[in-house]
Amino acid sequence: MLYRLARPFLFSLDAERAHGAGKFALQIARWAPGLAWRNGNAPSERLALDLFSRTFAGPIGLAAGFDKDAEVAHLMPMLGFGFVEVGTVTPQPQQGNPRPRIFRHPEEKSLQNRLGFNNAGLAALEGRLDELGPLPIPLGINIGKNKDTPADQSLDDYRRLLAAFGQRCDYLVVNVSSPNTPGLRDLQTEEFLRPLFESAREFTDRPVLVKIAPDMEPARAVDLCAAAVEAGAAGVVATNTTADLDRVPEPVPGGGGLSGRVLTELSFEMFEALAKELFGKATLISVGGIGSGREAYRRIRAGASLVQLYTALVFKGPDLLGRMHRELEECLDEDGFENLTEVIGADRNPSK
Ligand code: FNR
Repeated sequence: MLYRLARPFLFSLDAERAHGAGKFALQIARWAPGLAWRNGNAPSERLALDLFSRTFAGPIGLAAGFDKDAEVAHLMPMLGFGFVEVGTVTPQPQQGNPRPRIFRHPEEKSLQNRLGFNNAGLAALEGRLDELGPLPIPLGINIGKNKDTPADQSLDDYRRLLAAFGQRCDYLVVNVSSPNTPGLRDLQTEEFLRPLFESAREFTDRPVLVKIAPDMEPARAVDLCAAAVEAGAAGVVATNTTADLDRVPEPVPGGGGLSGRVLTELSFEMFEALAKELFGKATLISVGGIGSGREAYRRIRAGASLVQLYTALVFKGPDLLGRMHRELEECLDEDGFENLTEVIGADRNPSK
């Protein structure tokens, strides 16, 4: 209700300013425990699962990019998130691209962004995590290279970040799939990922996953991710935004990546292809255009242990996860499952 009132105001602002206002509102909501959406969002016990040596209260996490510098990561349980991925963090701080750089496509419930890894950098994130102390929910850290780092030194950027954050989170994600850092997606090769994952254990004992783009042939993505897993990757986050801007009728000129509803099917197809090959061999996190409990359930049935979202939160508001959790429970009831762990177990062992 409150969000329905606030939304026209937020949507009258530039999208990045609205994002800042949203984060500010979260800080305030923290002191208002009576807010209805705050209390209705938590997942029930049926939706809990164990992974990465932690218990996740629910399977829906906040995708990377919303909270790049961990400003509000500790407040995410209020929205019902079972885990949070901060970043992308780069070794050096970065301004990112000139504003405006986030655009709404309201009819399509989609966003176009070309932020370009604006973030406060490695040292600032270390300081912020010290300040926050242990978080109430599992934490992922998504890492990327600086724009100015020459291509042949990219590996060093990732290794520095693995070393810095290797003991400070529950999992890490190697991001080689943002469309907004020139040359980044060129790192989606076996030649780059193999040595990176083969050496990752020198820097961290935590699971390290790779996040991929939806803009390649699924067969190529499968080969690439299988190679990464063979080299030591613990799993895959699929997918990032799509650079195919023609998926909206009026793309804003100047580039960027699309997220939200126009990404749903593309991201699902990619995820499904990956899961066919990697289910049971690696942890799979599905992200891209998820905005309902049914869609989250579809991803879980296709092989996801966890799902993430960002854009749907912008369009649907702070009580979204409560609604999604209730829908997920309906799906469990319809298929005769007691809890989510049972679903994942049943899919792992199809004879059950
Ligand atoms: C993102 N995303 C993103 N991903 C990433 O790995 N690092 C990042 O820094 C960002 N930044 C970012 C900013 C903005 C404004 C958006 C909308 C998205 C991608 C995000 O994590 C996710 O993969 C996609 O947005 C698809 O999920 P949704 O948004 O459709 O639920």
